[in-house]
Amino acid sequence: MRTIVLCFFLTSQVCSGHKFPPWFKFGAATSSYQIEGAWNVSDKTQHIWDTYCHSSGNKCSNVNADEGANSYYQWRDDIQAAADLGLDYYRFSISWTRILPTGFPNKISDDGVRYYNDLINGLLEKGIEPVVTIYHWELPQSLQDLGGWTNELIRTWFADYARVLFSLFADRVKIWLTINEPLIMCAAAYSEHTAMAPGVRDPNYGAFLCAKNTIMAHAHAWRIYDELYKPKYHGKVSLASQIFWMEGINDEVQQLTELAFKLNVMYIYPIFSKRGGWPVEIEEIFVELSKKEGYSSSRLPPFTDEEREFVKGTYDYFGLNYYTSRLVRPTFDGEKTYWPFRGSPDLGAALVPDASWRVSDNVPWLYEYPKGLRHIMEWIKKEFGDIEIIITEVGYGDSGKEPDHKRIRYHKEHLEQVHLAIQEGIRVTGYIAWSLIDTFEWEAGYTVKFGLYKVDYNDPSKKRKLRASGLYYADVIKSRDFDIKHKYISDEL
Ligand SMILES: *[C@@H]1O[C@H](CO)[C@@H](O)[C@H](O)[C@H]1NC(C)=O
Repeated sequence: MRTIVLCFFLTSQVCSGHKFPPWFKFGAATSSYQIEGAWNVSDKTQHIWDTYCHSSGNKCSNVNADEGANSYYQWRDDIQAAADLGLDYYRFSISWTRILPTGFPNKISDDGVRYYNDLINGLLEKGIEPVVTIYHWELPQSLQDLGGWTNELIRTWFADYARVLFSLFADRVKIWLTINEPLIMCAAAYSEHTAMAPGVRDPNYGAFLCAKNTIMAHAHAWRIYDELYKPKYHGKVSLASQIFWMEGINDEVQQLTELAFKLNVMYIYPIFSKRGGWPVEIEEIFVELSKKEGYSSSRLPPFTDEEREFVKGTYDYFGLNYYTSRLVRPTFDGEKTYWPFRGSPDLGAALVPDASWRVSDNVPWLYEYPKGLRHIMEWIKKEFGDIEIIITEVGYGDSGKEPDHKRIRYHKEHLEQVHLAIQEGIRVTGYIAWSLIDTFEWEAGYTVKFGLYKVDYNDPSKKRKLRASGLYYADVIKSRDFDIKHKYISDEL
Protein backbone atom coordinates (compact mmCIF):
# COMPACT_ATOMS: atom_id res chain seq x y z
CA MET A 1 0.00 0.00 0.00
CA ARG A 2 2.75 2.40 1.02
CA THR A 3 4.52 1.70 -2.24
CA ILE A 4 1.52 2.69 -4.27
CA VAL A 5 1.10 5.95 -2.38
CA LEU A 6 4.77 6.82 -2.77
CA CYS A 7 4.72 6.00 -6.45
CA PHE A 8 2.00 8.53 -6.92
CA PHE A 9 4.50 11.25 -6.10
CA LEU A 10 7.46 9.85 -7.97
CA THR A 11 8.13 9.64 -11.66
CA SER A 12 6.29 6.88 -13.43
CA GLN A 13 9.61 5.66 -14.76
CA VAL A 14 10.74 4.66 -11.30
CA CYS A 15 7.54 3.02 -10.34
CA SER A 16 6.43 1.20 -13.43
CA GLY A 17 6.35 -2.48 -12.53
CA HIS A 18 9.68 -3.84 -11.44
CA LYS A 19 11.82 -1.72 -13.71
CA PHE A 20 14.97 0.04 -12.60
CA PRO A 21 15.31 3.67 -13.66
CA PRO A 22 17.58 4.39 -16.63
CA TRP A 23 20.30 5.96 -14.50
CA PHE A 24 20.68 2.88 -12.30
CA LYS A 25 23.93 0.96 -12.92
CA PHE A 26 24.62 -2.75 -12.70
CA GLY A 27 28.04 -4.18 -12.07
CA ALA A 28 30.11 -7.07 -10.79
CA ALA A 29 33.32 -7.19 -8.79
CA THR A 30 36.56 -9.03 -8.12
CA SER A 31 39.83 -8.17 -6.39
CA SER A 32 43.44 -8.52 -7.45
CA TYR A 33 44.85 -11.28 -5.24
CA GLN A 34 41.64 -13.24 -5.59
CA ILE A 35 41.93 -13.59 -9.39
CA GLU A 36 45.19 -12.31 -10.88
CA GLY A 37 47.68 -15.07 -10.16
CA ALA A 38 51.16 -14.22 -11.52
CA TRP A 39 52.31 -13.67 -7.95
CA ASN A 40 56.02 -13.67 -8.86
CA VAL A 41 56.19 -12.18 -12.35
CA SER A 42 58.17 -9.16 -13.42
CA ASP A 43 59.21 -6.92 -10.53
CA LYS A 44 56.17 -7.58 -8.34
CA THR A 45 57.24 -8.34 -4.78
CA GLN A 46 55.46 -10.34 -2.10
CA HIS A 47 52.48 -9.01 -0.21
CA ILE A 48 51.05 -10.30 3.05
CA TRP A 49 48.77 -12.84 1.38
CA ASP A 50 51.62 -14.31 -0.62
CA THR A 51 53.59 -14.69 2.58
CA TYR A 52 50.68 -15.96 4.62
CA CYS A 53 49.55 -18.64 2.19
CA HIS A 54 53.13 -19.74 1.59
CA SER A 55 53.77 -20.30 5.30
CA SER A 56 52.82 -23.43 7.11
CA GLY A 57 50.17 -23.69 9.79
CA ASN A 58 47.61 -21.45 8.11
CA LYS A 59 44.25 -22.27 6.60
CA CYS A 60 45.57 -21.39 3.17
CA SER A 61 48.88 -23.25 3.56
CA ASN A 62 47.96 -25.92 1.05
CA VAL A 63 46.07 -23.69 -1.31
CA ASN A 64 46.88 -20.21 -2.51
CA ALA A 65 46.24 -17.78 -5.32
CA ASP A 66 49.67 -18.06 -6.97
CA GLU A 67 47.81 -18.87 -10.16
CA GLY A 68 44.17 -18.27 -9.31
CA ALA A 69 42.00 -17.48 -12.30
CA ASN A 70 45.12 -16.25 -14.07
CA SER A 71 43.59 -12.86 -14.78
CA TYR A 72 47.00 -11.22 -15.08
CA TYR A 73 47.21 -13.02 -18.42
CA GLN A 74 43.50 -13.58 -19.09
CA TRP A 75 42.16 -10.09 -18.43
CA ARG A 76 40.63 -10.07 -21.89
CA ASP A 77 38.44 -13.02 -20.83
CA ASP A 78 37.27 -11.04 -17.80
CA ILE A 79 36.40 -8.03 -19.92
CA GLN A 80 34.53 -10.28 -22.33
CA ALA A 81 32.67 -11.88 -19.43
CA ALA A 82 31.68 -8.44 -18.14
CA ALA A 83 30.66 -7.29 -21.61
CA ASP A 84 28.58 -10.41 -22.23
CA LEU A 85 26.58 -9.67 -19.08
CA GLY A 86 26.03 -6.11 -20.29
CA LEU A 87 27.64 -4.63 -17.17
CA ASP A 88 27.80 -0.89 -16.62
CA TYR A 89 30.49 -1.27 -13.93
CA TYR A 90 33.37 -3.64 -13.36
CA ARG A 91 34.86 -3.27 -9.91
CA PHE A 92 38.39 -4.61 -9.48
CA SER A 93 41.35 -3.77 -7.29
CA ILE A 94 44.95 -2.83 -7.89
CA SER A 95 47.76 -4.81 -6.36
CA TRP A 96 50.08 -2.46 -4.46
CA THR A 97 53.23 -4.52 -5.02
CA ARG A 98 52.51 -4.89 -8.73
CA ILE A 99 52.61 -1.10 -9.11
CA LEU A 100 55.12 -0.22 -6.37
CA PRO A 101 57.53 -3.15 -5.87
CA THR A 102 59.21 -1.54 -2.86
CA GLY A 103 55.88 -0.44 -1.38
CA PHE A 104 57.06 3.14 -1.84
CA PRO A 105 56.75 5.48 -4.83
CA ASN A 106 60.50 5.46 -5.48
CA LYS A 107 59.98 2.77 -8.12
CA ILE A 108 56.95 2.39 -10.37
CA SER A 109 56.68 -0.88 -12.28
CA ASP A 110 56.25 -0.49 -16.02
CA ASP A 111 54.71 -3.94 -16.30
CA GLY A 112 52.27 -3.26 -13.47
CA VAL A 113 51.19 0.02 -15.02
CA ARG A 114 50.82 -1.62 -18.42
CA TYR A 115 48.62 -4.38 -16.98
CA TYR A 116 46.15 -2.01 -15.34
CA ASN A 117 46.18 0.36 -18.32
CA ASP A 118 45.26 -2.54 -20.60
CA LEU A 119 42.46 -3.57 -18.27
CA ILE A 120 41.06 -0.06 -17.89
CA ASN A 121 41.30 0.76 -21.58
CA GLY A 122 39.82 -2.60 -22.57
CA LEU A 123 36.83 -2.02 -20.31
CA LEU A 124 36.24 1.50 -21.59
CA GLU A 125 36.37 0.25 -25.17
CA LYS A 126 33.45 -2.02 -24.32
CA GLY A 127 31.55 0.79 -22.63
CA ILE A 128 32.17 -0.59 -19.13
CA GLU A 129 33.09 1.84 -16.41
CA PRO A 130 35.96 0.76 -14.13
CA VAL A 131 35.31 1.04 -10.39
CA VAL A 132 38.70 0.75 -8.76
CA THR A 133 39.57 -0.38 -5.25
CA ILE A 134 42.95 0.93 -4.18
CA TYR A 135 43.45 -1.53 -1.33
CA HIS A 136 41.80 -4.93 -1.18
CA TRP A 137 43.96 -6.43 1.59
CA GLU A 138 47.31 -6.98 -0.12
CA LEU A 139 49.74 -4.98 1.93
CA PRO A 140 53.33 -5.09 0.65
CA GLN A 141 55.30 -7.45 2.89
CA SER A 142 57.99 -4.75 3.11
CA LEU A 143 55.49 -2.48 4.89
CA GLN A 144 54.12 -5.27 7.05
CA ASP A 145 57.66 -5.81 8.27
CA LEU A 146 57.58 -2.19 9.44
CA GLY A 147 54.38 -2.73 11.39
CA GLY A 148 51.85 -2.50 8.59
CA TRP A 149 48.49 -1.09 9.60
CA THR A 150 49.56 -0.67 13.22
CA ASN A 151 52.26 1.85 12.31
CA GLU A 152 50.97 5.42 12.04
CA LEU A 153 53.32 6.00 9.12
CA ILE A 154 51.05 3.87 6.99
CA ARG A 155 48.87 6.92 6.59
CA THR A 156 51.64 8.46 4.47
CA TRP A 157 52.62 5.20 2.78
CA PHE A 158 49.04 4.65 1.69
CA ALA A 159 48.58 8.27 0.62
CA ASP A 160 51.72 8.05 -1.53
CA TYR A 161 50.45 4.86 -3.16
CA ALA A 162 47.02 6.38 -3.80
CA ARG A 163 48.63 9.50 -5.28
CA VAL A 164 50.55 7.35 -7.75
CA LEU A 165 47.35 5.55 -8.80
CA PHE A 166 45.46 8.81 -9.25
CA SER A 167 48.31 10.24 -11.33
CA LEU A 168 48.31 7.13 -13.55
CA PHE A 169 44.62 6.33 -13.92
CA ALA A 170 42.36 9.16 -12.72
CA ASP A 171 41.96 10.50 -16.25
CA ARG A 172 39.91 7.36 -17.02
CA VAL A 173 38.81 5.99 -13.63
CA LYS A 174 36.03 8.10 -12.12
CA ILE A 175 34.83 5.92 -9.27
CA TRP A 176 37.32 4.97 -6.56
CA LEU A 177 37.24 3.00 -3.36
CA THR A 178 40.18 3.60 -1.07
CA ILE A 179 39.90 0.56 1.16
CA ASN A 180 37.75 -2.53 1.16
CA GLU A 181 35.99 -3.37 4.41
CA PRO A 182 38.12 -1.87 7.18
CA LEU A 183 36.12 -3.79 9.77
CA ILE A 184 36.83 -7.20 8.32
CA MET A 185 40.36 -6.26 7.38
CA CYS A 186 41.34 -5.19 10.90
CA ALA A 187 39.16 -7.64 12.81
CA ALA A 188 40.10 -10.64 10.73
CA ALA A 189 43.76 -9.76 10.49
CA TYR A 190 44.30 -9.37 14.21
CA SER A 191 41.74 -11.69 15.72
CA GLU A 192 42.97 -14.91 17.21
CA HIS A 193 40.25 -17.10 15.78
CA THR A 194 40.13 -16.03 12.19
CA ALA A 195 42.52 -16.91 9.47
CA MET A 196 43.56 -13.90 7.49
CA ALA A 197 46.87 -12.30 6.62
CA PRO A 198 49.08 -11.10 8.15
CA GLY A 199 48.01 -13.53 10.88
CA VAL A 200 49.20 -11.28 13.69
CA ARG A 201 47.22 -12.28 16.75
CA ASP A 202 46.69 -9.06 18.61
CA PRO A 203 42.96 -8.59 18.94
CA ASN A 204 43.10 -6.36 21.99
CA TYR A 205 45.47 -3.73 20.73
CA GLY A 206 46.59 -4.24 17.13
CA ALA A 207 43.08 -4.48 15.74
CA PHE A 208 42.21 -1.02 17.04
CA LEU A 209 45.44 0.63 15.94
CA CYS A 210 44.62 -0.81 12.55
CA ALA A 211 41.11 0.62 12.82
CA LYS A 212 42.25 4.18 13.35
CA ASN A 213 45.13 4.09 10.88
CA THR A 214 42.86 2.69 8.19
CA ILE A 215 40.47 5.58 8.59
CA MET A 216 43.26 8.15 8.63
CA ALA A 217 44.82 6.60 5.53
CA HIS A 218 41.48 6.72 3.73
CA ALA A 219 41.06 10.39 4.63
CA HIS A 220 44.53 11.25 3.32
CA ALA A 221 43.81 9.57 -0.02
CA TRP A 222 40.40 11.22 -0.31
CA ARG A 223 41.91 14.65 0.32
CA ILE A 224 44.59 14.14 -2.32
CA TYR A 225 41.96 13.30 -4.91
CA ASP A 226 39.68 16.07 -3.76
CA GLU A 227 42.36 18.72 -4.00
CA LEU A 228 44.33 17.65 -7.06
CA TYR A 229 42.13 15.45 -9.23
CA LYS A 230 38.48 16.17 -8.60
CA PRO A 231 38.60 19.68 -10.10
CA LYS A 232 39.88 18.20 -13.34
CA TYR A 233 38.18 14.81 -13.59
CA HIS A 234 35.04 15.17 -11.45
CA GLY A 235 35.25 11.63 -10.12
CA LYS A 236 34.25 10.36 -6.71
CA VAL A 237 36.02 8.56 -3.90
CA SER A 238 34.71 6.57 -0.95
CA LEU A 239 35.45 3.31 0.81
CA ALA A 240 33.59 -0.01 0.92
CA SER A 241 31.98 -0.68 4.29
CA GLN A 242 30.71 -4.14 5.03
CA ILE A 243 27.63 -3.98 7.24
CA PHE A 244 25.58 -6.69 8.92
CA TRP A 245 22.06 -5.43 9.54
CA MET A 246 20.86 -6.14 13.10
CA GLU A 247 17.41 -6.37 14.60
CA GLY A 248 16.38 -7.02 18.18
CA ILE A 249 14.94 -10.41 18.96
CA ASN A 250 12.07 -8.52 20.62
CA ASP A 251 11.13 -4.94 21.51
CA GLU A 252 12.81 -5.07 24.91
CA VAL A 253 16.29 -5.28 23.46
CA GLN A 254 16.10 -2.21 21.27
CA GLN A 255 18.79 -0.31 23.15
CA LEU A 256 21.14 -3.28 23.23
CA THR A 257 20.59 -3.83 19.52
CA GLU A 258 21.44 -0.22 18.72
CA LEU A 259 24.62 -0.45 20.76
CA ALA A 260 25.71 -3.73 19.15
CA PHE A 261 25.02 -2.29 15.73
CA LYS A 262 27.00 0.84 16.52
CA LEU A 263 30.01 -1.21 17.56
CA ASN A 264 29.74 -3.07 14.27
CA VAL A 265 29.63 0.17 12.25
CA MET A 266 31.89 2.36 14.37
CA TYR A 267 34.24 2.84 11.41
CA ILE A 268 31.65 4.69 9.49
CA TYR A 269 31.11 7.48 12.02
CA PRO A 270 34.48 9.26 11.79
CA ILE A 271 33.94 9.67 8.04
CA PHE A 272 30.20 10.06 7.63
CA SER A 273 28.82 11.55 10.85
CA LYS A 274 28.34 15.28 11.36
CA ARG A 275 30.30 15.22 14.61
CA GLY A 276 33.15 13.02 13.36
CA GLY A 277 35.19 10.66 15.52
CA TRP A 278 34.08 7.35 16.99
CA PRO A 279 30.50 7.08 18.22
CA VAL A 280 30.51 8.65 21.70
CA GLU A 281 28.90 5.65 23.45
CA ILE A 282 31.44 3.26 21.96
CA GLU A 283 34.36 5.51 22.82
CA GLU A 284 33.19 5.69 26.46
CA ILE A 285 32.83 1.93 26.72
CA PHE A 286 36.39 1.48 25.51
CA VAL A 287 37.76 4.09 27.92
CA GLU A 288 36.12 2.36 30.89
CA LEU A 289 37.09 -1.10 29.74
CA SER A 290 40.72 -0.19 29.05
CA LYS A 291 41.04 1.41 32.48
CA LYS A 292 39.62 -1.69 34.11
CA GLU A 293 42.03 -3.87 32.17
CA GLY A 294 45.01 -1.82 33.32
CA TYR A 295 45.94 -0.02 30.12
CA SER A 296 47.24 3.54 30.45
CA SER A 297 44.94 4.80 27.70
CA SER A 298 42.00 3.60 25.66
CA ARG A 299 42.63 0.60 23.46
CA LEU A 300 40.49 2.41 20.89
CA PRO A 301 42.80 5.28 19.95
CA PRO A 302 40.80 8.52 20.03
CA PHE A 303 40.94 11.11 17.29
CA THR A 304 42.44 14.48 18.18
CA ASP A 305 40.24 17.46 17.27
CA GLU A 306 42.46 18.11 14.30
CA GLU A 307 42.26 14.50 13.13
CA ARG A 308 38.51 14.49 13.57
CA GLU A 309 38.16 17.47 11.27
CA PHE A 310 40.61 15.94 8.81
CA VAL A 311 38.56 12.74 8.48
CA LYS A 312 35.04 14.12 8.69
CA GLY A 313 33.25 14.35 5.36
CA THR A 314 35.89 12.51 3.35
CA TYR A 315 33.41 10.79 1.06
CA ASP A 316 31.60 11.45 -2.21
CA TYR A 317 29.15 8.55 -1.90
CA PHE A 318 28.55 5.57 0.39
CA GLY A 319 30.05 2.25 -0.74
CA LEU A 320 28.04 -0.55 0.86
CA ASN A 321 28.97 -4.22 0.96
CA TYR A 322 26.10 -6.37 2.18
CA TYR A 323 25.70 -10.09 2.60
CA THR A 324 23.74 -10.99 5.70
CA SER A 325 22.00 -9.89 8.92
CA ARG A 326 21.66 -11.00 12.53
CA LEU A 327 19.21 -10.80 15.40
CA VAL A 328 20.44 -9.48 18.72
CA ARG A 329 19.49 -11.22 21.94
CA PRO A 330 20.89 -10.72 25.45
CA THR A 331 23.52 -13.30 26.35
CA PHE A 332 22.66 -16.12 28.73
CA ASP A 333 24.36 -16.29 32.13
CA GLY A 334 28.04 -16.93 31.65
CA GLU A 335 27.84 -16.72 27.86
CA LYS A 336 30.67 -14.65 26.38
CA THR A 337 30.55 -12.91 23.06
CA TYR A 338 33.03 -10.79 21.22
CA TRP A 339 31.81 -8.83 18.29
CA PRO A 340 32.99 -7.63 15.90
CA PHE A 341 36.50 -8.10 17.25
CA ARG A 342 37.81 -10.71 19.57
CA GLY A 343 39.10 -7.78 21.64
CA SER A 344 35.79 -5.92 21.54
CA PRO A 345 33.93 -5.08 24.73
CA ASP A 346 31.42 -7.72 25.77
CA LEU A 347 28.13 -5.88 25.44
CA GLY A 348 26.10 -8.85 26.63
CA ALA A 349 24.67 -9.16 23.14
CA ALA A 350 24.63 -12.42 21.21
CA LEU A 351 24.14 -12.35 17.45
CA VAL A 352 21.93 -15.09 16.07
CA PRO A 353 20.14 -15.77 12.81
CA ASP A 354 16.37 -15.86 12.68
CA ALA A 355 15.10 -19.43 12.48
CA SER A 356 13.31 -18.63 9.23
CA TRP A 357 16.39 -17.41 7.37
CA ARG A 358 17.91 -19.77 4.84
CA VAL A 359 21.61 -20.49 5.14
CA SER A 360 24.04 -21.23 2.32
CA ASP A 361 25.13 -24.86 1.92
CA ASN A 362 28.76 -23.86 2.11
CA VAL A 363 29.13 -20.47 3.79
CA PRO A 364 28.09 -20.94 7.40
CA TRP A 365 27.66 -17.22 8.14
CA LEU A 366 25.59 -16.45 5.05
CA TYR A 367 21.96 -16.31 6.16
CA GLU A 368 19.63 -14.74 3.66
CA TYR A 369 17.76 -11.65 4.80
CA PRO A 370 17.21 -9.41 1.77
CA LYS A 371 15.28 -6.79 3.73
CA GLY A 372 18.42 -6.15 5.75
CA LEU A 373 19.94 -4.51 2.69
CA ARG A 374 17.12 -1.98 2.44
CA HIS A 375 17.09 -1.36 6.18
CA ILE A 376 20.78 -0.46 6.09
CA MET A 377 20.16 2.04 3.32
CA GLU A 378 17.28 3.54 5.31
CA TRP A 379 19.59 3.74 8.31
CA ILE A 380 22.34 5.48 6.27
CA LYS A 381 19.86 8.11 5.11
CA LYS A 382 18.44 8.65 8.59
CA GLU A 383 21.80 8.75 10.34
CA PHE A 384 24.01 10.59 7.83
CA GLY A 385 21.69 12.25 5.33
CA ASP A 386 20.67 11.86 1.74
CA ILE A 387 23.94 10.42 0.47
CA GLU A 388 24.34 8.65 -2.85
CA ILE A 389 24.74 4.93 -2.15
CA ILE A 390 26.46 2.44 -4.42
CA ILE A 391 26.14 -1.18 -3.37
CA THR A 392 29.74 -2.16 -3.97
CA GLU A 393 29.30 -5.85 -3.08
CA VAL A 394 26.36 -8.17 -2.65
CA GLY A 395 26.42 -11.84 -3.41
CA TYR A 396 25.80 -15.44 -2.57
CA GLY A 397 28.45 -18.06 -1.94
CA ASP A 398 27.85 -21.78 -2.21
CA SER A 399 29.52 -25.07 -3.00
CA GLY A 400 29.09 -24.60 -6.73
CA LYS A 401 26.17 -26.90 -7.43
CA GLU A 402 24.74 -26.27 -10.90
CA PRO A 403 22.43 -24.75 -11.90
CA ASP A 404 22.75 -22.14 -9.18
CA HIS A 405 19.09 -21.45 -8.48
CA LYS A 406 19.83 -20.17 -5.02
CA ARG A 407 22.20 -17.50 -6.26
CA ILE A 408 19.50 -16.38 -8.69
CA ARG A 409 17.01 -16.18 -5.87
CA TYR A 410 19.47 -14.29 -3.70
CA HIS A 411 20.14 -11.63 -6.33
CA LYS A 412 16.49 -11.42 -7.31
CA GLU A 413 15.33 -10.84 -3.76
CA HIS A 414 18.08 -8.33 -3.04
CA LEU A 415 17.40 -6.45 -6.26
CA GLU A 416 13.77 -6.28 -5.22
CA GLN A 417 14.80 -4.57 -1.97
CA VAL A 418 16.97 -2.11 -3.88
CA HIS A 419 14.03 -1.36 -6.13
CA LEU A 420 11.87 -0.73 -3.06
CA ALA A 421 14.55 1.53 -1.62
CA ILE A 422 14.52 3.62 -4.80
CA GLN A 423 10.75 3.91 -4.45
CA GLU A 424 11.23 5.11 -0.89
CA GLY A 425 13.38 7.93 -2.21
CA ILE A 426 16.76 6.51 -1.19
CA ARG A 427 19.53 7.62 -3.53
CA VAL A 428 20.93 4.20 -4.40
CA THR A 429 22.46 4.35 -7.87
CA GLY A 430 24.22 1.03 -8.42
CA TYR A 431 24.30 -2.68 -7.61
CA ILE A 432 27.65 -4.46 -7.93
CA ALA A 433 27.42 -8.21 -7.55
CA TRP A 434 30.19 -10.16 -5.86
CA SER A 435 31.64 -11.74 -7.89
CA LEU A 436 32.04 -11.58 -11.67
CA ILE A 437 34.00 -14.84 -11.82
CA ASP A 438 34.81 -17.32 -9.06
CA THR A 439 37.63 -16.09 -6.88
CA PHE A 440 40.07 -17.29 -4.27
CA GLU A 441 37.88 -16.71 -1.23
CA TRP A 442 40.61 -16.02 1.32
CA GLU A 443 40.60 -18.57 4.12
CA ALA A 444 37.93 -20.59 2.29
CA GLY A 445 40.24 -21.02 -0.70
CA TYR A 446 38.47 -22.28 -3.80
CA THR A 447 35.75 -24.21 -1.99
CA VAL A 448 33.30 -21.30 -1.94
CA LYS A 449 31.85 -20.03 -5.22
CA PHE A 450 30.36 -16.58 -5.61
CA GLY A 451 30.86 -16.16 -9.36
CA LEU A 452 28.30 -15.31 -11.99
CA TYR A 453 30.85 -17.22 -14.04
CA LYS A 454 32.39 -20.48 -12.96
CA VAL A 455 36.15 -20.77 -13.30
CA ASP A 456 37.34 -24.24 -14.11
CA TYR A 457 40.54 -24.34 -12.05
CA ASN A 458 41.42 -27.85 -13.18
CA ASP A 459 41.51 -26.81 -16.79
CA PRO A 460 44.84 -25.10 -17.64
CA SER A 461 42.92 -22.64 -19.80
CA LYS A 462 40.92 -21.53 -16.70
CA LYS A 463 37.85 -21.15 -18.84
CA ARG A 464 35.14 -18.79 -17.56
CA LYS A 465 31.76 -20.45 -17.91
CA LEU A 466 28.50 -18.55 -17.52
CA ARG A 467 26.34 -19.80 -14.67
CA ALA A 468 22.56 -19.71 -14.64
CA SER A 469 22.81 -16.76 -12.27
CA GLY A 470 24.91 -14.92 -14.85
CA LEU A 471 22.25 -15.59 -17.45
CA TYR A 472 19.62 -14.25 -15.07
CA TYR A 473 21.69 -11.16 -14.29
CA ALA A 474 22.28 -10.45 -17.98
CA ASP A 475 18.53 -10.61 -18.53
CA VAL A 476 17.92 -8.26 -15.61
CA ILE A 477 20.37 -5.78 -17.08
CA LYS A 478 18.86 -6.04 -20.53
CA SER A 479 15.27 -5.70 -19.38
CA ARG A 480 16.09 -3.52 -16.33
CA ASP A 481 13.56 -5.68 -14.51
CA PHE A 482 14.46 -8.03 -11.65
CA ASP A 483 11.23 -10.03 -11.83
CA ILE A 484 11.84 -11.75 -15.11
CA LYS A 485 10.53 -15.21 -15.73
CA HIS A 486 13.59 -17.18 -16.53
CA LYS A 487 13.79 -20.81 -17.42
CA TYR A 488 16.44 -21.22 -14.74
CA ILE A 489 14.27 -19.82 -11.99
CA SER A 490 12.87 -22.88 -10.33
CA ASP A 491 9.43 -22.76 -8.78
CA GLU A 492 10.60 -24.84 -5.85
CA LEU A 493 12.82 -22.11 -4.44
C1 LIG B 1 56.94 -18.47 -9.60
O1 LIG B 1 56.19 -19.31 -8.76
C2 LIG B 1 55.89 -20.58 -9.31
C3 LIG B 1 55.02 -21.29 -8.34
O2 LIG B 1 53.79 -20.61 -8.18
C4 LIG B 1 57.19 -21.34 -9.62
O3 LIG B 1 56.89 -22.56 -10.22
C5 LIG B 1 58.06 -20.48 -10.50
O4 LIG B 1 59.32 -21.12 -10.69
C6 LIG B 1 58.28 -19.10 -9.94
N1 LIG B 1 58.96 -18.26 -10.91
C7 LIG B 1 59.99 -17.50 -10.57
C8 LIG B 1 60.54 -16.66 -11.69
O5 LIG B 1 60.45 -17.46 -9.45
